[in-house]
Order: sequence, then C-alpha cells, then structure tokens
Amino acid sequence: IPVDPFDYVVFGGNGDLAERKLLPALYHRDHDGQIPPESRIIGASRSEFSDEAYREFAREALTKHVKPEDIHETSLGRFLSRLHYRTVDAQADGGWDELRALLDEEGHSRIRAFYLAVGPSLFAPIAERISGKGLSNEHSRLVVEKPVGRDLDSARELNATIGRHFREDQIFRIDHYLGKETVQNLMALRFANALYEPIWNSTHIDHVQITVAESVGLEGRAGYYDKAGALRDMVQNHIVQLLCLVALEPPSAMDADALRDEKLKVLRALKSIDSSNVETNTVRGQYKAGASGGNAVKSYLDDLGNGDSDTETFVAIKAEIGNWRWAGVPFYLRTGKRLSERMSEIVVTFRPIPHSMFESAAGKIAQNQLVMRLQPDEGVKQWLMIKDPGPGGMRLKHVPLDMTFAESFRTRNPDAYERLLMDVIRGNQTLFMRRDEVEAAWEWVDPILKAWAEKSVKPQGYTAGTWGPSASVALIERDGRTWHEPD
Ligand code: BG6
Repeated sequence: IPVDPFDYVVFGGNGDLAERKLLPALYHRDHDGQIPPESRIIGASRSEFSDEAYREFAREALTKHVKPEDIHETSLGRFLSRLHYRTVDAQADGGWDELRALLDEEGHSRIRAFYLAVGPSLFAPIAERISGKGLSNEHSRLVVEKPVGRDLDSARELNATIGRHFREDQIFRIDHYLGKETVQNLMALRFANALYEPIWNSTHIDHVQITVAESVGLEGRAGYYDKAGALRDMVQNHIVQLLCLVALEPPSAMDADALRDEKLKVLRALKSIDSSNVETNTVRGQYKAGASGGNAVKSYLDDLGNGDSDTETFVAIKAEIGNWRWAGVPFYLRTGKRLSERMSEIVVTFRPIPHSMFESAAGKIAQNQLVMRLQPDEGVKQWLMIKDPGPGGMRLKHVPLDMTFAESFRTRNPDAYERLLMDVIRGNQTLFMRRDEVEAAWEWVDPILKAWAEKSVKPQGYTAGTWGPSASVALIERDGRTWHEPD
C-alpha cells in the first residue's frame, strides 16, 4: 500500500539496535520502493554527529549488516541522502528546538514516527519532551521497544506516562517476534485452511512446545541483562506472544483490536504459577563455561565480571491455559542463552492414534507433529506417517510435508523489523502489543518472579553449548514426553 511521505526519528540513532536492525530494515524497504521520495530518517541521541558523519555511520552499519549482494549503489546513495542527525539530550532541554525546526521544515501535517531505540529509563523523559516541546502532531506515532517495565507496577506506570502524551492508537509497543514470517504464517495456517481449526484443541492436540534457543551469550548487554534475566527478557514478551497466537480463538477479522482482544483472553486464562507450584512448573538455569560453535566460552559470571549473580540465562516452564479449548494441554516453554544452537520453533504434537491395525514389524507409529520453525531456515513441516515406498511390505515411515520457505518461494526473507517499521507508518497496530496485553502478561509473570524469590529458587548450572540444565529434561519427561529434537 503506498504511503505518504514521512519523517522517522530514531532516538538512539547511533545505538546497537539502529545499527544492526533499524537502518538495514529501512534501507531494504527503500530499495524495494516502499519509502516515498521526500521521506527523511533522522537520527537523534546525545552523541555529536553532523548529517554527513551520520551518513558515514549508516554506510558502515549497512556494509556490516546487509548482505553484499543486497547493497545496490543507487539505492544506497538515495537512502543515505535521506538521513539527518540532531544531537538531543533526552533528559534536558538541549537540542530539542533544533530537532523541531528540522521537522517543521516539512510543515506540520506530515507523519512523524518517533522510535525510542533507547533504554527503558529514557522512554518517559523522551515522550514527555516530544509532546512538551511541540514536536508531535495529529499524525505522530511513538514506537517503544521492550522491555515495557520490569514488573506489573512499573509497566503500569510507564504506560500511564506515555499515555498522557500519546493516544493508544499512536503507541506502537514493538515485539519483533510478531514480525517474523513464520509467526504470521501461523495465522495463515490456522485461519486460511479448513484443515487445522477443527482439530486445534485438547481433543486432538497432546501438547505444544515453544523453544527459543540462542547460542550467543551476553553480547555486551550485561548491564541490562543481569537486571532482567531470561524470564523478563524473552518469556514475558516474545514467548508469551507466540503462545497467544497458537492458542487464541479465531478473530473475526485481521484487525488490530479483534486480534488483540483474543490474545488478551488467552493471557487472562493462563493458570497462575506461584509458590505452590513454581518448583514443579519452572526451571531456572545459568550457563557455566563450555563451548559454542567449536570455541571455548566463559561462564555467565565471568562474562559479567562478577562472581555473584543469581540471574537466570535459561528458563523452562510448563504453562497451562484454563479454558475449554486447552484444558489439559500443557504448553512447554523454554529459552536460553549459550545453548547448543540458535533454533526457535513451535511444535504442536497431536494425540496418538487410538488403535493401530499394523503389526509391530511395520514400525513405530509416531504422533503427528506440526513444526513451525522461526529460525534459522524459516518454514513449516507437517510430520505424517506414510508407507515406506518399495516392495518391502507394509513398513511405515515418519516423513515431513515440507513447506520450507527458502526452497518453496526463493525470495529474500525480510527481517521482522522491515515489516513492523512500515506498519508503524501505515498506522497498523495488528502486530504490536496493546497496553492491556502487556500488563496481562506481567500479571502472569510477576507471581513467578515472586515465587522464585520466596522459595529461594536459584538457577541451576548448565554447560554452555548444551540444551540447558537437566531439570529442564526432567520437567517434560515427568509427563512422559520429550523435548523435540531439531532435525
Ligand atoms: C531480544 C532480546 O528481544 O531478542 C535478546 O532482548 C535476544 O536477548 C533477541 O537475543 C533475540 O531475537 P532474535 O530475532 O535474534 O531471535
């Protein structure tokens, strides 16, 4: 859909997120012809840069983070010419008048998107100044990165503060997992096919697994991460959002509120995990020294440079949804840093067949599984039993119906941010989190944090490069199930 010219202001314009994700995403959209000619991208932060120096910064960022075959000189030149920069002090008056003057050069009715790619402590001061210094207009949008708060109270406070300066339909709380292709494909699979929805319930589904495994460690984010931990960093947002999309009732339309209303119902139906069941339903882990990608890597504490931290870098949870559709179907969730590989997937395991007419010599009849792979190699596989071809008699085999995107579609797979950044301009909030959703997710997470503290649940060590503490295996094996092994 064509959009009107806009100004994208990126606070934290020279930060890590802008460098790795935002500038490359905007470059790709520009190359694909989605950014109208007069649009501008304005970096802002406390650092001193001229427009020229910022263009140089962006050129280097793109060289590092965009594949060489996707860099086209004409597109690059055009993109760099859109860039501007203003030095702005988020917590004082410096630079705001200059930024406003730059925006006003294009009049007052242009779409102005303000992206807060900064630490959460700066969300409120920046939102206040955008509004107080007269930078926002009727068509402004505010984009905030996670984490929105560190518990329910702080999330409420933050939402209230930004809500004083922007209407809810102007606020885009980004969860980049919602922009991933497979995640949207999950909605297509469920709601654009007649096949799945009738069996998408506890009568036919045995259990669901959601794994978001990373091989990386702290990556220079120790200050933030040690205060957050895996539950706040990954579960409260990304994993809970994935769970909602698997579990929600069919929305009436692909419309922001219709979808978010249904997600909210799932969040509110999540069964509470508190001190009565936290020890059986959760596992905390922290990585010890080990190996990653063939290289020796340090322990979390050594990465931190601090011999004393109880922050979890791994968490596994058995979650349950107390509603008619999902009663008795566990959702096993796990995520961690320094695991064996980078691999994220949602696995839906269907119930076993009620009776086998085949002799045991035919082979074991595996349960059907739908495996939605988020990364790497995004794609969907539906595992089925078939007859092994050939004359060897009735031998059964478990094989995938493979919908691997790279092979089937042969197109570049856009990064999640590409879609989300443009949805902001289009004013489409479908893939962004609404205020009540974020708070409902914290309402489920807060009691877990509290119960860990009350019961002194300490993280268990796991060797870097493995799949986490053995207690995570025990969590699922206790129920007679196993974690899905990536193929
Ligand atoms: C971020 C987390 O939200 O997601 C990081 O803060 C994590 O800790 C990252 O590494 C993972 O994103 P992706 O897209 O690489 O899976």
